[in-house]
Amino acid sequence: HRHLLGIEALGRADIETILDLAEDYVALSRQRDKKRAVLKGLTQINIFFENSTRTQASFELAGKRLGADVMNMSLASSSIKKGETLIDTAVTLNAMHPDLLVVRHQHSGAVALLAKKVNCSVINAGDGRHEHPTQALLDALTIRRHKGRLHRLTVAICGDINHSRVARSNITLLNRMENRVRVIAPPTLLPTGVGRMGVEVFHDMRKGLEGVDVVMMLRLQQERMQGAFIPSNREYFHRFGLDEEKLSHARPDAIVMHPGPMNRGVEIDPNVADDPKRSVIQEQVEMGVAVRMAVMDLLARNIPNMAA
Ligand code: CP
Repeated sequence: HRHLLGIEALGRADIETILDLAEDYVALSRQRDKKRAVLKGLTQINIFFENSTRTQASFELAGKRLGADVMNMSLASSSIKKGETLIDTAVTLNAMHPDLLVVRHQHSGAVALLAKKVNCSVINAGDGRHEHPTQALLDALTIRRHKGRLHRLTVAICGDINHSRVARSNITLLNRMENRVRVIAPPTLLPTGVGRMGVEVFHDMRKGLEGVDVVMMLRLQQERMQGAFIPSNREYFHRFGLDEEKLSHARPDAIVMHPGPMNRGVEIDPNVADDPKRSVIQEQVEMGVAVRMAVMDLLARNIPNMAA
């Protein structure tokens, strides 16, 4: 592969290769010397048109740990503010010979469009409500480490499915690895095509969580709702917020995940989010660096030697 635009393009073997290599990078990142120079001499540019804490920081750290020269585009002070288009920005940066572009954009499909206009490898760091492939991969690594496998598990993805690229990438990955996927949400927060997504649909948290191995909570993405259905936080928490009582319906060893950023008291009770026996939320962040190191290492193996 030259790019990582979505989980859709990955087969089971691709996913396993990425996760196996990421395990090496988990170990490396826990050492005092965290560096391995597999991207030495390469240039990585991170372009985030939407806000990010975890994804941007972990791509920057991942690139630096692998020895790349990493540049974070500061969009607030860029010519985007003067009306330059996404494609003109990409073509301009491409002329500076980057090897890896990491791109987040508010429109579904924008990162794939950009990838057609540049010569380097492109990694999708989240496009609209379409895909967030490295999030699904880091979630998969977290699950595999806790459950000892990544197949024949029952995973519930709960909350704002409609606006969530994290949900779409996770549903694709988990189905590809032959798991059972449930979505739990009010009808207004489900996409119209949910019946074709290969998931079981529940509108009741207690029924949907019954016997699951993994509980994946999603943020209520109010910034994407534009006046449509915006439930009150209190009402939403009462019906769909994960608290200890609702979690008691899952398997006793079920893990609780959240991609972040969390809205405490809206989709998740702080007591559950911070429960060291159930919550793996901070471990997801750790796996994010390792998975991004693995993805960039594998893509860099396909970068041609321009001097040849
Ligand atoms: N999970 C995730 O993508 O977080 P950020 O928006 O902070 O990058």
